[in-house]
Amino acid sequence: MQAHTLAIDFGTSNTAAGYMLEGAPKLVDIEPSNSTLPTSIFFDFDSRKTLFGTQANKALITGDYGRFMRALKSVLGTSIMHERRRIMDEQIDFIEIISRFLREIKTRAEAASGLTFNKALSGRPVHFHSDDPAKDAQALTDLRACYLKAGFTDVKFMFEPEAAALANHSHLAQGTLGLIVDIGGGTSDFTIFETAQNGIKIRASHGTRVGGTDFDRKLSIDHIMPLLGKGSQIRKAFGDETMPAPNAIFHNLATWQKIPFMYTGETRREANDLLKHAAEPQLLKRLTDTLENELGHDLAFAAERGKIAANIADASIDLTVLEPSLTAPLTQAALGHALHALTTKIQSATAETLALASLPPAQINSLIFVGGSSLMTVVESTLQAQFPTAQPHRTSAFTAVIEGLILATA
Ligand SMILES: Nc1ncnc2c1ncn2[C@@H]1O[C@H](COP(=O)(O)OP(=O)(O)OP(=O)(O)O)[C@@H](O)[C@H]1O
Ligand SMILES: [Mg+2]
Repeated sequence: MQAHTLAIDFGTSNTAAGYMLEGAPKLVDIEPSNSTLPTSIFFDFDSRKTLFGTQANKALITGDYGRFMRALKSVLGTSIMHERRRIMDEQIDFIEIISRFLREIKTRAEAASGLTFNKALSGRPVHFHSDDPAKDAQALTDLRACYLKAGFTDVKFMFEPEAAALANHSHLAQGTLGLIVDIGGGTSDFTIFETAQNGIKIRASHGTRVGGTDFDRKLSIDHIMPLLGKGSQIRKAFGDETMPAPNAIFHNLATWQKIPFMYTGETRREANDLLKHAAEPQLLKRLTDTLENELGHDLAFAAERGKIAANIADASIDLTVLEPSLTAPLTQAALGHALHALTTKIQSATAETLALASLPPAQINSLIFVGGSSLMTVVESTLQAQFPTAQPHRTSAFTAVIEGLILATA
C-alpha cells in the first residue's frame, strides 16, 4: 500500500488539511463544504460524546452541559500540558485532548479521500514561545507526541510562513524579495524569501507569540472585565479600608486557554468573597454569575465578534448573554488604542526578521498578508508604514499555509 502524507495546518483558531492528488494540491472538506474547521472541542456531559469544530462551537452557544476548549495550541510547551484532569469519568491530559482533535482530522481526511494517512506534515509557528527556548522546544516535543498518539507514525514539521511563501511565490516576478506576514490566532510569523527560477530561496524566518486571541484578551481586560468588577474597590475584612479587586481572576477569565479551568470551587469561592466585600456589588455579581453559569467562553466570543465589527466601523461588544441589554461600546479609535502595544510587538518582530536577513526595509518588494488577524486594519497600516515601498498582496488568508504544506509533501 502506498504511504500517503497528510498536510495539516493545526492553528490556534482554525485547522485545515490536504494532500497531493494526481500531482495537484487537494484541500480536504474537513467540515461540510468547508476547508477549515474551528480548533474547538466540546465534551458533552449528557451524551458523553466529544464534539469537534463547528459542532463544538454550536454546543457552547446552545448552552449544552459540558466542557468547551479552544486555543489548545497555546497550551503546548506549558506545564498544563501534562496535568491530568477529570473529564467525563476519565483522567486525561492535554496531550490526549489534542491527540483526539488530530485523530478526528485524520479520520475526516481519510473518509473524504478514501486514502490512509500514516505520515503527517504539520505546520508550526517559528516560535511557539518568544524568548524561552526551553519552552519553545518543549512545545514541539508535545505537538509531536500528540500526532503520534493520534495514530501518525511519521511526523515532519515546517515553519508556517515558509509554507505560505511556497504557496504564493508563483504570483510574483522572478527576483522579487517578498515578506510573508502571517498573523494568526496565537502567533505572528514572518518569512523573507526570494523568488528564483524554480522555487524560492528562504532568506530568514522569525516569529513572536502575539495573535488574535491576545487581541481578544486585551479587549476583554479593557472593555469587558471592568463591567465585572475589575479595578473596583473591595472592603478589607477588618476596618473601613478598601483596595482594588485583585487582577488575576479577571485576567484568567479573559484568556481563551485558561477559561476551562475557571469553573472550580476554589475560584467560585474567591469570586463570592469579592462580592461579599464589594463596594459595587452589582459589578461583582456579574463575575459570580459568569462563573456560576460558565459563561467565560461566551464573553471571549463576544470580545472576538466586537473586535471584528469594530475593525470596520464603530461598534459595541454584545454582553446580553450575561445581562439583558448589557453592551460595551467599542469605537475604532478605542480598538486601535487597546491593541497598540501588541501591534508594536508585531512591528518589532518584523524588524528583527529584516535584521536576520541583513536587509533594509526598502529592499522588500512585496508584502504578503496571511492569517485571520492580518485582516485587522491596525496590523495592515502598521506594516504598510514600516514598508512604504512594498506592494501589498492579499491571498487566501485562511488557507495559504495549508496550500503550501500540501505542495511541500510533494
Ligand atoms: N474578519 C476578521 N477581521 C479581523 N480578525 C479576524 C477576522 N476573521 C478572523 N479573525 C481573527 O483571526 C484569528 C484566526 O486567524 P487564523 O485562522 O489565521 O489563525 P490560526 O492559523 O488558527 O492561528 P495560528 O496560526 O496563530 O496558530 C482569530 O483571532 C480571529 O478572531
Ligand atoms: Mg495559522
